[in-house]
Amino acid sequence: MARRPLIAGNWKMNGLKADGVALAEAVARKVKAGPAPADVLICPPATLVDRVAQTVAGSGVAVGGQDCHAVQSGAHTGDVAAAMLKDLGASHVILGHSERRTNHGETNATVRAKAEAAHAAGLVVVVCLGETEAERDAGRTISVVESQFKESLPSGTNADNTVIAYEPVWAIGTGRTPTNAEVAEVHAALRASAAKVLGAAVADRLRILYGGSMKPSNARELLAIKDVDGGLIGGASLKVDDFWAIVEASR
Ligand code: PGA
Repeated sequence: MARRPLIAGNWKMNGLKADGVALAEAVARKVKAGPAPADVLICPPATLVDRVAQTVAGSGVAVGGQDCHAVQSGAHTGDVAAAMLKDLGASHVILGHSERRTNHGETNATVRAKAEAAHAAGLVVVVCLGETEAERDAGRTISVVESQFKESLPSGTNADNTVIAYEPVWAIGTGRTPTNAEVAEVHAALRASAAKVLGAAVADRLRILYGGSMKPSNARELLAIKDVDGGLIGGASLKVDDFWAIVEASR
């Protein structure tokens, strides 16, 4: 079955009000001028979700958070609940990004608990997984991503409430990418894991994105790989022309 591509921008910890609104406006203008060949999602920092959601309202651009807490409210200073993101107009949330796994000690179990909370709040989760360079060098890539897949997704996961993003840790922000064959191998393994864990019908519809140094110059070939259903874009999502070139490359 044909899966509609999703191109998602992960702004990370970048942008004050003025830049965020300007970038969101520019993306919304592109989508409105469309038709875009892909679903388009932008994930600003939590401080900008409200403004960005208001800015793109009605344009067809979806807005997501970059993390949420595993419980819905309470004594968790500095954290943001899934329902709060939803309340601001977010429809998605990125979970388990390698920067969260590394900098905040998030494990597959943490990601799973957060995904459960996000699903309960009605958000679509974009669950990130991927091997480190040491794991790849040790020949463990497939077993690592398979266990991340199995352990990070809560029961109730389906193709409507979940998107997977394969992001090799060593490719994020480095300008390095796996070969097309390496990407194809991981995506095929993830599709097979999905069939095993979630059933063939869900696996067939589940979107599996590639992320890690995707940019205008390599997007077309990465997006053409079998089982790659879009991209999660960091650095290149901060410039509308680069981000849009990637959206266009999914055509
Ligand atoms: P990058 O980041 O595109 O800057 O490599 C991707 C990501 O971390 O989601």
